[in-house]
Amino acid sequence: MNAPRRSPVRLQIYPDLETLSRAAAELFAAQADRAVRTHGRFNVALSGGSTPRRTYELLAREPYRDQVAWPQIHVFWGDERCVPLVDPRSNARMAQGAFLAFVPVPRSQVHPITCQESPKVAAEQYELTLRKFFGDQPHTFDLAFLGLGPDGHTASLFPGSPVLAEEKRWAAAVHPAAQELERVTLTPAVFNQARTVTFLVSGRDKARVLQEVLEGEYDPHRLPAQLIKPEPGELLWLVDQAAAAVLDPGRPFVL
Ligand code: 6PG
Repeated sequence: MNAPRRSPVRLQIYPDLETLSRAAAELFAAQADRAVRTHGRFNVALSGGSTPRRTYELLAREPYRDQVAWPQIHVFWGDERCVPLVDPRSNARMAQGAFLAFVPVPRSQVHPITCQESPKVAAEQYELTLRKFFGDQPHTFDLAFLGLGPDGHTASLFPGSPVLAEEKRWAAAVHPAAQELERVTLTPAVFNQARTVTFLVSGRDKARVLQEVLEGEYDPHRLPAQLIKPEPGELLWLVDQAAAAVLDPGRPFVL
């Protein structure tokens, strides 16, 4: 595993999930505006799980809805569970219900990960989609949202997974032992080529793992979130006070 990130990590602490979600929606709108102005489109990778739901709901409402040039937005996912798109466990279904069904993003620009065949085939197909979409651009996503699991996983990069050592492929099938669902995940390689990667972390149940990831030993086999260190892109952590409860108050973070 290569060396830990050298540049300072940008961390912003918010009173609660609502203020954290408003900040994330503002970031989405600002990054979308900058991307559309500079290269005509905004490519975003959405995270699954429960934390980002409120952010997504806010994007479908004023003031954020009118701030985003939805026809220029291209939506991808950082990972997906291999379930039908109508299954309540689907990350794409969650985003669809929270905001994509209510904003005018052309359907051809929404790219869910679908596991019609095997997770392996789904990963290969998604990688082709991504490579075709990004071509020879130096960056992948303009913005990638990520969550943090209590065990230090992010996307579907779980502790001890063989995928953690993947340095070339952009997507991989995941058969996590402890989880009942097969999944497809993007790999650190594609996140680390993003312009901005933003973790959204909320709740006291994440406090210990957040402290370990940000302040503990560099041990990505145990804490896969530590593999996410975009260079030259920016890494942002938007967290609430409950999740930040045991961080060192004198921490060397850039606020
Ligand atoms: C998933 C997510 C996963 C999630 C974390 C945090 O498919 O479940 O990609 O990585 O972001 O598990 O989930 P919560 O936001 O629900 O705590």
